[in-house]
Amino acid sequence: MSLIYNIGLLVGIQPEGVLRVEGAAQGRTGILENAWLRIEDGRIADYGTGFCHSERSEESIDARGAMVMPGFCDSHTHIVYAGSRDGEFLDKINGLSYEEIASRGGGILNSASLLNKTQEEDLYVQSMVRVREMMAKGTVAMEIKSGYGLNPEAEMKMLRVIRRIKETVPAAVKSTFLGAHAIGQGYTHEEYVQAVIDMIPQAAQYADFIDVFCDEGFFTVEETDRILTAAQHLLTPKIHANELAVSGGVQVGVKHKALSVDHLERTTDAEIEALKGTWTIPTMLPGSSFFLGLPYGRAKDYIKAGLGVALASDYNPGSSPSGDMRFVMAQGCIKMRLTPIEAFNAVTLNSAYAMGVSAEYGSITRGKKAALIITEPGWDLTKIAYQYQTPFISKVIM
Ligand code: NIG
Ligand code: FE
Repeated sequence: MSLIYNIGLLVGIQPEGVLRVEGAAQGRTGILENAWLRIEDGRIADYGTGFCHSERSEESIDARGAMVMPGFCDSHTHIVYAGSRDGEFLDKINGLSYEEIASRGGGILNSASLLNKTQEEDLYVQSMVRVREMMAKGTVAMEIKSGYGLNPEAEMKMLRVIRRIKETVPAAVKSTFLGAHAIGQGYTHEEYVQAVIDMIPQAAQYADFIDVFCDEGFFTVEETDRILTAAQHLLTPKIHANELAVSGGVQVGVKHKALSVDHLERTTDAEIEALKGTWTIPTMLPGSSFFLGLPYGRAKDYIKAGLGVALASDYNPGSSPSGDMRFVMAQGCIKMRLTPIEAFNAVTLNSAYAMGVSAEYGSITRGKKAALIITEPGWDLTKIAYQYQTPFISKVIM
């Protein structure tokens, strides 16, 4: 049992059973002033205002009047990768687009060749540096994708590394098989699509989800449909869609009951319509809009249409070399005009939903995991998005 007392603002309170917030509800969250929170067996046992009658013990934490909030949930990352792509950074500065870098054998294929040369142990060690960085920045639940192996052996190596991370860190980890990220070396396009389909049963032993990069120059809607059909009953889809073009990826994702469709830098009203009334959550990745100079997704329009929106980091070496969810939240406000509460819900409860963990993470709710950020005194939700680079975390609990 432990107690956090002297909480100035307890933020992110939701009643039991709310798995995501949509439309106007995305702009609301429960807040208590002068609060306490009791933790039992790693879960939120109770919270309230005023004086708490539970005994204070050595384990009790004095929040010193600061804010306590649920930790960040990052539903879309590619943090298991080898080496770096900083060599391509100069090409990018000199004006080459993401597609141009990829067509010269850079991009995902560059990461794949590095990963194929890297021993499993080394890959784990390199990836853990990023996992620790994310946890220190307040991320308590994360999804991690494969997709830099691009052949059966190396894809399974990635999935084993993700499983090992899952077993070793206090944060919640979800694993996604993204064999269909690019065409593996030595395969024709058609051969590789078949190879991905053939990898599914083995991948399903490790992974929770399947993803396809359904976009111009990568995988078509028809191929995505075939891959997801083969994965039916084995892996729930999460789709990369509409990053480079209006791809049809949203619609094929909805058809296959994807948990989320991600990126959405290029969206028309048809995508918003297609998502209404479905269990698929639109997820935007402002870090890749920032890094690649792409349009920011129309998060506000989705919310106006009554949908809920999640935001995630997309942490990867090619389009978003940052896993800083506080910066993601700030970009939600600054670039996508979300209110601080809308952006906060997007990086906590809704991003937990986008990786299927919102029954356990993403809000202050009795029974959920006590996966929390205690801030330094003086911070509130608006200020962490506004003054977006000043360190604000006193302690991350998970
Ligand atoms: O989500 N768009 C596809 N995949 C990643 C980028 C991967 C890479 O460039 O290494 C993304 O942006
Ligand atoms: Fe991605």
